[in-house]
Amino acid sequence: MNALRWDGEVLWVLDQRLLPHTVEHLRCSDSMAVVEAIRGMAVRGAPAIGIAAAWGLVLAAKRGEDVEQASRALLASRPTAVNLRWALDRLARLPTSEWADEARRLHDEDLAINKAMGDCGADYVEGLVPTGRIQVLTHCNTGALATGGWGTALGIVRTLHARGRDVHVWVDETRPWLQGARLTTWELVQEQIPCTLLADAAAPILMAQGQVAAALVGCDRVARNGDVANKTGTYAVALACAAHHVPFVVAMPWSSVDPTCPDGGAIPIEQRAPSEVLGWGTARWAPEVPVFNPAFDVTPAHLVTVYASERGRVLPPFG
Ligand code: MRU
Repeated sequence: MNALRWDGEVLWVLDQRLLPHTVEHLRCSDSMAVVEAIRGMAVRGAPAIGIAAAWGLVLAAKRGEDVEQASRALLASRPTAVNLRWALDRLARLPTSEWADEARRLHDEDLAINKAMGDCGADYVEGLVPTGRIQVLTHCNTGALATGGWGTALGIVRTLHARGRDVHVWVDETRPWLQGARLTTWELVQEQIPCTLLADAAAPILMAQGQVAAALVGCDRVARNGDVANKTGTYAVALACAAHHVPFVVAMPWSSVDPTCPDGGAIPIEQRAPSEVLGWGTARWAPEVPVFNPAFDVTPAHLVTVYASERGRVLPPFG
């Protein structure tokens, strides 16, 4: 299950808008095609869009495009995930001739980072539930589809499963793009990891019933003080966790930490089209009223129990 594949000439993007019913790949042969794939959500998830942007810049250089302009367009394709800037900066430090190798390295490293983060998070969760069934709740999609492979928060689940633990995942459907319903369930079914899908608003009831050992979420940008921007609805999960004394775990690759951002208030939040909330595809279920559709929200650091990173557990402020 690869969200992205570089064949030496072009980037192939698994079109996540069509999942789970259709598996189709987009052929991106220039940087604008990559910009469109990111902006249009064919590829999504902070680490995956960082990697895609790196390959986009490689394509720009290969095609003799204006690389400065391509870099600006890639950076602007989605404003919240800082991984985009992190990946483009890594390439920009090197001569163009080394970009393809660096993009390959960045892509491969992401898998290793996720495995390390998976171990870190799994150790923590196993400490909470040393024996028997582990029930966790997750929001959005943070799996192989959102990364270079394995996943961040969903990577913790994969690691628990690989260790032989009986793990069951409560999957928030994740309105309005349904990343949980369409993508996370799809990944879990393929891995034969038991899961149950729920409407986002049902999560607190489960916590009140004592059916959630921990909530595991990813992040798009973590500010220096530990505030976390992630898919809209994450903040509500964190509040429910606090009310029910459920640990709230953020799987946090260091590529998602923004040392230039003092706190959550400084994180740019992407606002998306009203049509995403008024309906789906060609279906419309609401009249043409004004819509509030932030793609992300910010969870304050004080609601985070632990950040599981590839360098171990960390607590803010990060200094
Ligand atoms: O809008 P999306 O689908 O790109 O949002 C994705 C998320 O919010 C993820 O939780 C985050 O990027 C972490 S993915 C490992």
